[in-house]
Amino acid sequence: MKNIFNRNYKKYDAWYDKNKFAYLSELIAIRTKLPKIGRGLEIGVGTGRFAKPLQDVGYEIVGIDISAKMLKEARKKGTRGLIEGDACCLPFPESAFDAAISVGTLHLITDWWLALREITRVTRRSLFTVLREGLNYKATPNGVYKELLKKYGYSYDHPGKGLWKLQEIIKPTRSMFVTSYNTNINESIAFLSEKAFSLQWNVPNGLHRKAMRELRRMFSKDGTYGCDVFVHEWEVNAVRDCLSRPTT
Ligand SMILES: C[S@@+](CC[C@H](N)C(=O)[O-])C[C@H]1O[C@@H](n2cnc3c(N)ncnc32)[C@H](O)[C@@H]1O
Repeated sequence: MKNIFNRNYKKYDAWYDKNKFAYLSELIAIRTKLPKIGRGLEIGVGTGRFAKPLQDVGYEIVGIDISAKMLKEARKKGTRGLIEGDACCLPFPESAFDAAISVGTLHLITDWWLALREITRVTRRSLFTVLREGLNYKATPNGVYKELLKKYGYSYDHPGKGLWKLQEIIKPTRSMFVTSYNTNINESIAFLSEKAFSLQWNVPNGLHRKAMRELRRMFSKDGTYGCDVFVHEWEVNAVRDCLSRPTT
């Protein structure tokens, strides 16, 4: 995963630039939920999309990320308090932070339960996550692209089931619906064609081109599809208890 983001860090910000409304809604939602007093930790801080604007309005946030290249981009934007490190082995003492945030990261970590153990070890109160739930995913260009690759014998999935598994094991203490946004099908196809989504980065180019040709034939008309965005808050004590149970 580290190498994937190190190799593709330039592609990363493009999604946010295209989906500005969704991004700003997520940022505002996190801002209204996050306690202003105390220290915060962002796990998988990336290019500083969340940490930087939060720091700008007075939040004390430390950002950790496994990718030196992503951190370099974050530094260029002026994000402070950045540390290169692995979520599964956090270099902080117990209860060093009041709250933790993680956006678009836990599902990328194979040992997601280790990461959660570490997050709940170093955080005293709450973990906040943003979850984007594509409606009818299988019918979207991304879902169809994935199925096409499967048909050609190439399967992939999120390396870690972090967030989804966490939701199954323990319900968020509080959930906030943030927004729904529509993605234009042609824009999505253009994105897929540039291999802009992290899940595609390892797909061999030949298979990618073949899938794109078929995909373009299948989605010949313009249209949109929807995605719902939620901010979930978990009390870390509850998550910690749950992870220490032998069945987890
Ligand atoms: C999809 S990006 C999200 C970045 C940022 N949270 C955002 O929403 O803009 C995922 C980030 O998680 C980082 N990451 C992946 N695995 C990690 C790990 N085990 N420990 C720390 N960071 C990790 C990647 O390097 C990448 O910067």
